[in-house]
Amino acid sequence: MCGIVGYIGNRVAIPVLLDGLHRLEYRGYDSAGMALIENGDIVIKKTKGKVSELQRMVKNLRSDARLGIAHTRWATHGEPSSRNAHPHTDSRGDLAIVHNGIIENYNALKTYLIDKGHSFKSETDTEVLVHLIEEHYNGSLLETLSQCLVEVQGTYGIALVSKKEPDRIFAARRGSPLLIGKGKGEYFVASDVSAILRYTNEIIYLEDGEIAELSKEDLSVKSASYEDVPKKVQQISWNLDMIEKDGHAHFMLKEIHEQTTSLQNAIRGRLNFEEGTARLDGLLKFMDELENAHRIIITACGTSWHAALIGEYLIEELAGIPVEVEYASEFRYRSPIINKNDIVFLISQSGETADTLGALRETKRKGGIVLGVCNVVGSTIARESDGGVYIHAGPEIGVASTKAFTSQVLVLSMIAIMLGRMKNLSLDRGRQIVRALAEVPQLVQKVLAGADTIVAIAEELYRSNNALYLGRGYNFPVALEGALKLKEISYVHAEGYPAAEMKHGPIALIDENMFTVVIATKDAIYDKILSNVAEIRARKGRILSVVNRGDKRIKELSDVVIEVPETLTFFSPIINVVPLQLLAYHVAVKRGCNVDQPRNLAKSVTVE
Ligand code: G6P
Repeated sequence: MCGIVGYIGNRVAIPVLLDGLHRLEYRGYDSAGMALIENGDIVIKKTKGKVSELQRMVKNLRSDARLGIAHTRWATHGEPSSRNAHPHTDSRGDLAIVHNGIIENYNALKTYLIDKGHSFKSETDTEVLVHLIEEHYNGSLLETLSQCLVEVQGTYGIALVSKKEPDRIFAARRGSPLLIGKGKGEYFVASDVSAILRYTNEIIYLEDGEIAELSKEDLSVKSASYEDVPKKVQQISWNLDMIEKDGHAHFMLKEIHEQTTSLQNAIRGRLNFEEGTARLDGLLKFMDELENAHRIIITACGTSWHAALIGEYLIEELAGIPVEVEYASEFRYRSPIINKNDIVFLISQSGETADTLGALRETKRKGGIVLGVCNVVGSTIARESDGGVYIHAGPEIGVASTKAFTSQVLVLSMIAIMLGRMKNLSLDRGRQIVRALAEVPQLVQKVLAGADTIVAIAEELYRSNNALYLGRGYNFPVALEGALKLKEISYVHAEGYPAAEMKHGPIALIDENMFTVVIATKDAIYDKILSNVAEIRARKGRILSVVNRGDKRIKELSDVVIEVPETLTFFSPIINVVPLQLLAYHVAVKRGCNVDQPRNLAKSVTVE
């Protein structure tokens, strides 16, 4: 999705802006641009394609500008082109704007502005904003911006510069993340903290409706009703090392290998071995409501939705509370019923996904309690939730989510244990489960130690154009996640199914060219999955099975097996998904795909 970075201070702006844009590349984009204030004038450079292209364009600029804004665009209105790339300017070239989000009433605004004599240079919705500001300019940009935004429907994160007030950057947000970084005699504005982390970890989060005016030394923030808003500076704990590849070929591979640590970080200080439970401070305020919950609804998108499905199995089995899982995009628009004793959990790595945020706000409108399970501290969902749990996975840069998924499942496991112990789960069983959970990071480490064997297995799969992923029970969502990983980054068509459903359709696809990945670790329905594997074998399908060490029965029926250590069934998804992440990764590499920035995908989807 689109990215914004802006700088005002004593440094030369171009390298700061380019570095910021490079760090935003992971979010997915198709064009890039920047606007600099140079000797009171605006200099614009923009291009279709990569940030490196923009870098080439500005190489010989010899700019001394100390103020600028920059953008990576992910096309919504108008094809990717340098004309549609941001920044956009007004008729006179006095203003330049970059924008994330979507202006929903841009057609009406455009007609109004054309009537007033404005001519448009691009097909974007964004351009109407800058013409609107030009039209209404009253001598104060902050005030004009505030007045104009009242007329705007839709979502935005904006940064604006002007010849009229050449020592300022203006910023505003509604429904699209935007934050301000504070340095010494300098300020930054960005849509994502990773863009500015190199320079500062002192962050000021803008809330929806707020607009900001930044100079070298000062920041002033106004509310939607144009009143001063005192803002707090927050220190964030992420550092630069955490957002660099650290010798790995790709962020995705680095993040897969970080899972032992990220899982340990999610567990740290939260397990109570004595009481056989978990302590999650962000939920303490809601213990009564949780204990008396008649139903839990979990809503999320993408990989987080798969984690939610495992959460459903966990909470229903350990705590006996009915759980419903729903795509956030569906939930928010179908008038969901939220009863008094319902609790809604939202799962989001980024904490910024537009549909999940929409589900949050819909729940709150209906008076429901919203609890977030997020990774990014200070993200919108984290801040707007009534309470919640951070997964502490550290920054996840690869578009395909890996370590966030395993940490989400681990946090959901702790929530389920905690709820279970508040209800019917016995002390003995609680202790046993907690002990097993504490061992999960080490078991994941064992899988990672054998990571090299998956390179050869990928050789088997990478020429296939289709793959079926099957699993049952707790590992049905793992089948969905394994298939999603493969299709996201290698563009191999893959589908996940509950193994028993195979006979109701997908079995028609099985022949000697069809590759089926079966998650077949030991659990109560192991024998059932064994029959499913036999059915594929009988039809000459090619089978890759994920099995527990020492398994002979499935091995005999499979072409290839990946062995993983055994754990309690509840936690097997965390272990079993790791080889599937590695498999997708190596297949994508062999197919020559851009693993960290797969085509058309974005890390956090901040538009509907
Ligand atoms: C995008 C990403 C996925 C992610 C989904 C939900 O589609 O490409 O990897 O699972 O958004 O993101 P969230 O940040 O809400 O977990």
